[in-house]
Amino acid sequence: MKKTILGLLLVGSSLFALSGEKVYDQHCASCHKMEMSKGEMLAPPMPKVSQRLRQAIESKEKFVIFVKDYIQNPKRDKGYCGARAYQNFGTMPPIGESMTQEEIEVVSLWLFEKFEIKSTQQNKKQKCGAGKCGAAK
Ligand code: HEC
Repeated sequence: MKKTILGLLLVGSSLFALSGEKVYDQHCASCHKMEMSKGEMLAPPMPKVSQRLRQAIESKEKFVIFVKDYIQNPKRDKGYCGARAYQNFGTMPPIGESMTQEEIEVVSLWLFEKFEIKSTQQNKKQKCGAGKCGAAK
């Protein structure tokens, strides 16, 4: 049973039958961890990804649109990750190809809503040229 997705940006992810967290566990967690880890990482941790995108993209709507697109068609030249992220991890594979539209919507919204933005003080420190973020630290 699929629900029609209406007014997604207004209602928020809690109304969906699918939970963003579950979609994350299933499709993202193998690469994007919830914390920085000392061990091997395959991608930048999720809080970092979310935080960085919030700094670079001012509105929730644009944030969600960006993530939806990036999941389906990731490209280095449209991303906001620092050069070092691409060096360390390579570009993300188009994992959205094996997901439903609903899963993609829900997880994109979840990525925005799940993480609190850090204080402005810290945002300032991390900001760097041309709207792109700095390399992952
Ligand atoms: C096979 C590993 C892998 C999986 C699975 C994966 N990612 Fe990624 N992702 C990466 C890597 C590597 C990067 C860093 C390089 C890049 O941006 O392409 C990344 C970067 C990102 C970015 C940052 C783009 C930018 O440039 O700012 C977003 C957003 C993102 N992933 C979302 C997701 C979501 C949501 C999922 C689950 C639906 C997911 N990823 C699953 C490997 C993965």
